[in-house]
Order: sequence, then structure tokens, then C-alpha cells
Amino acid sequence: MVKICCIGAGYVGGPTMAVIALKCPSIEVVVVDISVSRIMAWNSDQLPIYEPGLDEVVKQCRGKNLFFSTDVERHVAEADIIFVSVNTPTKTRGLGAGKAADLTYWESAARMIADVSKSNKIVVEKSTVPVKTAEAIEKILSHNSKGIKYQILSNPEFLAEGTAIQDLFNPDRVLIGGRETPEGQKAIQALKNVYAHWVPEDRILSTNLWSAELSKLAANAFLAQRISSVNAMSALCEATGADVSQVSHAVGKDTRIGPKFLNASVGFGGSCFQKDILNLVYICECNGLTEVANYWKQVIKVNDYQKNRFVNRVVSSMFNTVSGKKIAILGFAFKKDTGDTRETPAIDVCKGLLGDKAHLSIYDPQVTEDQIQRDLSMNKFDWDHPIHLQPMSPTSVKQVSVVWDAYEATKDAHGICILTEWDEFKKLDYKKIFDSMQKPAFVFDGRNIANVEKLREIGFIVYSIGKPLDPWLKDMPAMA
Ligand code: NAD
Ligand code: UDX
Repeated sequence: MVKICCIGAGYVGGPTMAVIALKCPSIEVVVVDISVSRIMAWNSDQLPIYEPGLDEVVKQCRGKNLFFSTDVERHVAEADIIFVSVNTPTKTRGLGAGKAADLTYWESAARMIADVSKSNKIVVEKSTVPVKTAEAIEKILSHNSKGIKYQILSNPEFLAEGTAIQDLFNPDRVLIGGRETPEGQKAIQALKNVYAHWVPEDRILSTNLWSAELSKLAANAFLAQRISSVNAMSALCEATGADVSQVSHAVGKDTRIGPKFLNASVGFGGSCFQKDILNLVYICECNGLTEVANYWKQVIKVNDYQKNRFVNRVVSSMFNTVSGKKIAILGFAFKKDTGDTRETPAIDVCKGLLGDKAHLSIYDPQVTEDQIQRDLSMNKFDWDHPIHLQPMSPTSVKQVSVVWDAYEATKDAHGICILTEWDEFKKLDYKKIFDSMQKPAFVFDGRNIANVEKLREIGFIVYSIGKPLDPWLKDMPAMA
């Protein structure tokens, strides 16, 4: 029986290994983590992450050929294939701070593998890492090898949160990079054999190590660039009276462009896009490619501009001050169908409004009060370090209350900001909400999910990203 061990039981390690276990009953899969609470949660009925379909997959194979454990060293020693899926956050200090990837967690995992291994291993980079990381890992392993042979593969993960199970069941492609030596090719084949249990052969691509590592950064940069492109257009739409949804639809009909990932929004969030682009920028700078670095930097600048623009629009629409006003925040997760708040645009929007002394009443169906308070009191980039290393009892941000109902959040509010596109926000009784709010009552839709016409009929003043402006808003131009 082939044995797989995955180091890191997070958003990637957990779902990915659960699907491998489900699709490959002949393989034993153990997911290990240094976080005792995370592993306990994986072994309980309350999994540590919310992901549609995940519970069912875990239930089907946990205890059969899928195990979660904190006994990291034992399971690493016993495995034939080791996936490393630890976090690779942005460095917060020292050389490359604010840009470069922090490989501390990766390096400590590699050193531990070298320490405990007693047989040959295939070590798979599942985490997103800078190009050439495999070379560094090879050095760590081979200098401490005690005669053991290691093959390093790069097998970046392309799943998106909220659709992780679907993405894993039916991936656009699986990418495997390895050394162009007979041993490297043999290792690629061994990993291909795992995925071949359910992924059609023509979707399993093999490349050299550096192409695989760079493809992951490139794919995320291209995706984020599309969002910044459409968000840049949304500002122009508001200035000209064009409607960004109509523009995206027309542009996306070109088969060379395609319709996906063209939704204007308050900005992209999530643990990957910003971190991976910053990493790409840093690598370009280190290679003397200043123009290339500046090109990609612009994707992040436009994203920051979009979040600022939204805050400015809220404040300027409400007579240039939100001081002491209650603003309801509907949605805090970085997208729907996840409880993940890493780099969510809601953090920047809330901080911006708090800076103008607003009182916030926040509702998200999947995010806890503790998490929201932690996010609003944390410094930039600190979030990406494992949750168990973050302060357990964050200092509560005054002016913020977290409630478990959209109606309570909006009661007596002056304005509503929709920051996550949860389906339930489309179905709210907006007439009832309007009646309970201060007047004039505002809706600022950062996700373009509201029915603008209907809301205006009820009496709301509505701002929706990239849509023709309400006459009220035209008189109060945002100072972007
Ligand atoms: P995560 O923070 O959810 O999980 C990482 C886990 O690794 C944590 O539970 C942490 O405790 C554990 N860990 C850290 N060091 C360890 C060690 N030495 N030994 C054992 N466990 C250790 O992170 P994630 O979202 O799963 O991301 C993991 C990697 O995958 C990152 O490089 C990320 O860029 C990449 N990625 C993430 C996504 C996504 O949607 N989240 C998608 C594709 C790729
Ligand atoms: C992303 C990549 O899609 C995935 O392939 C990679 O493995 C990890 O990073 P994720 O961050 O989980 O996945 O979600 P994604 O669906 O890409 O959304 C990222 C952000 O962009 C979200 O905040 C989302 O709301 C926003 N977005 C997405 C838009 O604003 N408009 C769009 O059209 C699409």
C-alpha cells in the first residue's frame, strides 16, 4: 500500500488529501499538523474550515484510509510520498519584508523530513512557493540525507475556496514539475499514478520544476489582473454612465477573452492573490526586471484604489461624514461559501470607515465575532501566520458589534455596505430593512448583487460598483 503523508492540515492540505483518500481507496493518507486544535477539529464533527461538500468527503473515508494526526514525525517517517502544504506567508520583517515569501515553515518542515526519514521519499511542494524553492529544499535534504534519496516535485494547487471540492474532483489541470533525470521522471510518474485514479490523463501536465513553480504564481497573477482590469473599468463606468456588467458581458463574449472572472467588486481578497503577486514582484526585482515588477505591482495598486474608492464613496455620499453613524456591514468573508477572512476587502473597508468614526454592525453567516475582532485589530500581513500563533483574545475594537442576523445589523443604520456576495443577501426583505433604518437610507453594494431598480423604488439611495450613479451620488462626487 502506498502511504501518503501531508504536512499542513489547512485549507489546501485538508480538502486535497480528503479527495485523494476518497478517490484512491488503496492509498493510506495521513494529514499532520503542529496545531493540536486544528487536528482535533479535523477528527470531530465540526471541521476547522467551512467548504461545501467537504463534510461528506471526510465522513466517507476518515478512519478508513484518511487520518488526521499530530504525530508528525512518525507519519513522515512511514510515508512514501510527502506533500508539504504549510503556509508561505509574506515576510513581515528583514530582507524582502512586505514582499518576499516567508519560507520559515517550509524550511522547518524540510529539516524535520531530513531528520526523521529512514527510507527514500518523494517530497511534493503543494504550497505556493517562489521559483527555485525546490533547489533550496533539495540542498537542505541532501546535506542531511544519511544516504537517503529524495526526489522533489512541484505540484501546485489550483483549487479556489468555496468550490474546493468541485475543483478537486474536476480540475482544469493537474501540474507536476520534476527533474529531467530518469529518477525525476520516475517520481513524476508515481505522482501521476495517484491523480490518474480520477483525473483524465490529458489533464495531467508535466513540466520541469521551475515551470511548475512559476506557473502557479503566473496563474494567480493573470486571474487577479483580470479583476483589477474590470475594477479599473468600473471607475470609468461610474464617471461616464456606462454599466460595468454590460461592458463585462460584451467584452467576455469575445471567445479569446471569455466570460469568467470579470465581475467588478470592492476588490479581490483571499490568502493567495496579493501574497503571490508580491512574491512575483520580489522575484522580478531580484532578477533586475524592474519594468516587469512594476507591471504586476499595478494589479495590487488598482485593488487598493478600488477599496479606498469604495470607502470614499460611502463617506462622501453621507454628507462627508460617518462619525457616530451606524453602518451595517453585510458579509465579512473574502467571498461567498467560505468563512475565510484572510485579506478580505472587508477589513480595509471597515478600517476605513472606523477611521472616520463610524459605528459598525457586522453580519456574516460564517465568520465569528472573535475572528472579526482579531482581523480588525491586527497589522497588515500578520494574519497569514497560523491561527494558533495569533493572539487568542484580541483587544476588541470599540465601535464594532458583530451580530448573527442581517435585520439586526441593519436596524437603525444609516447605510448598508454589502461586502460579500452571500446568496442570502439577495433574498432579504429590503422593504422591512428600509422601514427600520434612519433616513435617507443608503445601500452601497460592493458585489453588484442587489436589484438596484427595486431598491430605488423602495426609497434607498443606491450605489453599486460600476453602475450608472444615483442622482444623489452625482451631486456628491467621491474624492477618490
Ligand atoms: P493554512 O494556513 O490554512 O494551513 C497551513 C497549515 O500548515 C497550518 O495549519 C499550520 O499549522 C501548518 N504548519 C505550518 N508549519 C508546519 C510544520 N512545520 N509542520 C506541520 N504543520 C505545519 O494555509 P493554506 O491556505 O492551506 O495554504 C497552504 C499553502 O497552499 C500556501 O502556500 C498557499 O499559498 C497555497 N495555496 C492556498 C490556496 C487556498 O485557497 N487557500 C490555494 C492554492 C494554494
Ligand atoms: C484563488 C485562485 O482562483 C485559485 O486558483 C488559487 O488556487 C487560490 O487563489 P481563491 O482566492 O480561493 O482562489 O478565490 P477566487 O475565486 O479566485 O477569488 C479571489 C477573490 O477575487 C475573491 O475576493 C473574489 O470575490 C474576487 N473576485 C473573483 C472578484 O472580485 N471578481 C471576480 O470576477 C472573481
